[in-house]
Order: sequence, then C-alpha cells, then structure tokens
Amino acid sequence: MTVDGKIATSNRAVDSFGSKRDLAHLYELRATVDAVMCGAGTINAGEVHLDPGPERYRRLRKKRGMAEYNLRVIASGRGLVRTNASIFNERHSPIIVITTARASRRALARLAAVANEVVVCGTDSIDWPAALGWLRKRWNVTRLLCEGGGELNASLFCAGAVDELHLTICPYVFGGRGAPTITDGVGIDRLADAVQLELVSMRRSAEELFCVFRVLSPKSEGAIITTNSPRHRASRNLA
Ligand SMILES: NC(=O)c1ccc[n+]([C@@H]2O[C@H](COP(=O)([O-])OP(=O)(O)OC[C@H]3O[C@@H](n4cnc5c(N)ncnc54)[C@H](OP(=O)(O)O)[C@@H]3O)[C@@H](O)[C@H]2O)c1
Repeated sequence: MTVDGKIATSNRAVDSFGSKRDLAHLYELRATVDAVMCGAGTINAGEVHLDPGPERYRRLRKKRGMAEYNLRVIASGRGLVRTNASIFNERHSPIIVITTARASRRALARLAAVANEVVVCGTDSIDWPAALGWLRKRWNVTRLLCEGGGELNASLFCAGAVDELHLTICPYVFGGRGAPTITDGVGIDRLADAVQLELVSMRRSAEELFCVFRVLSPKSEGAIITTNSPRHRASRNLA
C-alpha cells in the first residue's frame, strides 16, 4: 500500500507500484501457502493470476512437500466475475469461486463453465467460518493467502479470520476519497471494536518498509494471511 494506505488510485488505473523486491516477497509468501485468494473487484479491475510465479518458487514449493502450483480462490457475493479474465485461461491449478445465495442461476452457470468448483456459502455475504472449513476439508487448505482488495480484506478481518498481515509500505501518496485502501467495508465506530495487531517484524529495503503483524486473538481456526487440474464443474451449496 501507499503511505496513505491506498492499494490503487481512485480511478483504479494504478494498482501495482511495489518494487521488484516487493514482488519477490509476494512470491515468497505464495510459496508458503496452499491457496491464494482475491475478491471479484480485483479480478474485474485488471489482470491477476494468483500463481506461484517463476520456476524457483515452484521448486521451493515442491521441496517443502507442497503442490507445485497453489490453488486459486475468488470471492464474489453476486457471482459477477469477469469470465474472460486471463486467470481462467491458465489451467495449471484449480480455480475455486466462493459465492453467496445472491448469485443468480445465470451467474453460477457462467462461473461453473470457467472455474473448477463454485460453492455457495452464505446468504448475503460469505460465511467465512463455513467457507474456510469447507476449503480445508474439500481442498486440504490449511494456509491461505488473501491478496485483497480492500472489501475482501475488511470482511475477513470483520469475521476474525485473519492471523497475519504482511504489509509493504511504498513511498507514494495517492490520496483520493474513492481510492481503495487496505481494508474498506463498513468499518467500526468505536476504538474498542478495532482489530488489534502486534508488530512482529519490520525491515527496510531501499524506500520500502516490509512489516509483518500478528492479529491478536483471531476468532476462527486455521491460518489466513492477508497482503497487499482436473476440472470439476460442480456447483455446491453450503448456505
Ligand atoms: N496494491 C495491491 O496490493 C492490491 C491488491 C489487490 C487489489 N488491489 C486493487 O484494489 C481494487 C479492488 O478492491 P475492491 O475492494 O474494490 O475489491 P475486492 O475486495 O477485490 O472485491 C470486492 C468484491 O469481493 C466480493 N466480496 C468480498 N467480501 C465478500 C463477502 N464477505 N461476501 C461476499 N462477497 C464478498 C464482493 O463481490 P460481489 O460484488 O460479486 O458481491 C465484493 O464486491 C482494484 O483496483 C485492485 O486492482 C490492489
């Protein structure tokens, strides 16, 4: 994020502004997780692939006894994900869409045609404890990296589902009332309701700061980290 907490400019044209070191850090993190997730807003705004990156990171995964390619997860309440996004053209690992009862039959059918599995999990918003439990049971996901955007990050914090926050602070100020930030959503009104974090480490590399925070008392099981195949065409309903 920028120094003023933005993860994109308000017109969403600029959403990638970290250094090469920051990108390497992202791939290093991906090499520690079973699945990488982002929200529909991020898929619809640009080209994201959620893949493990260059071969050396895939080798690292294999050395750690993990699958060469991480699972990819997309969260979308309405199921309105751009199905021509390039993530759907790369078939090296399963793509799972987690959605809610708000998704129309048509949206579910469109997603089922491009994703490996589409699961309905929640009525208005995704029921994270149920969704994460299902990911663990069905896809053996014990460690999940969420890469935003701000709406999805906020909903995970709100559900008490985040264990760690890896934050790269980049030397820019974007401003812009409508620019997405690291966590958006509805927010809180009282300090007592804030999610509290503990700073675990902080490292400077050139003009960037790499921070790791641990969330104090996460409420749900399993590990979620947030940062800035064979095809199964099934659609399941866990709602
Ligand atoms: N700099 C960075 O590191 C970075 C990283 C990621 C993204 N970005 C940027 O951030 C922007 C996108 O952020 P964003 O906040 O607008 O979008 P987002 O968080 O990627 O996606 C928001 C969408 O995800 C779904 N969603 C999230 N939480 C949900 C829940 N609890 N239940 C149901 N659905 C849920 C909803 O989909 P529906 O609308 O279908 O209901 C919601 O509209 C883009 O410009 C992107 O490029 C930057």
